[in-house]
Amino acid sequence: MFIAVYPGSFDPITNGHLDIIERGRKLFEKFIVAILRNPHKLPLFSVEERAQMIQEVVQDFENVEVAVFEGLLVKFAQEKGCKVIVRGLRAISDYEYETQLAVINRKMFPEIETIFLPTSTEYSYLNSTVVKEIARFGGCVKGLVPPVVERKLRERFDTFR
Ligand code: PNS
Repeated sequence: MFIAVYPGSFDPITNGHLDIIERGRKLFEKFIVAILRNPHKLPLFSVEERAQMIQEVVQDFENVEVAVFEGLLVKFAQEKGCKVIVRGLRAISDYEYETQLAVINRKMFPEIETIFLPTSTEYSYLNSTVVKEIARFGGCVKGLVPPVVERKLRERFDTFR
């Protein structure tokens, strides 16, 4: 089976991520959205909450699976039988970090290739940090994130207000 893994923090998933999932999943038999459990970062949402939001968003995509991983991405990909890592590229500023990751991953596990999908232009400015910043200060995130995320952000920040 031709399987791809789309890894990230997804804290939370944005419409930019969703754009990559919708387009990427058409290229593979199975498309695994893999959330990194990172003990060194303090996320806004737990991995369980992030997984639940993504699950809701991709429920109609029959070849998309949501998973959580810890440690090295290439090890996870190898365990899942993935040959391809998919990453979205928004702007040239992403390029340096993304190629560094891709080269290091290939050095560790040459059988796995990284491919980049250019993010659709309407999401080229978008990332999870920007979304959290807007939501934290009561701004509107409609159109930037799926409705379930909009709701969860509102709930989360209303609690602190
Ligand atoms: O959405 P992000 O935070 O930009 O995603 C980064 C991610 C999760 C793809 C990257 O940090 C990762 O793969 N981490 C797992 C550890 C690893 O394999 N690192 C690469 C070698 S240094």
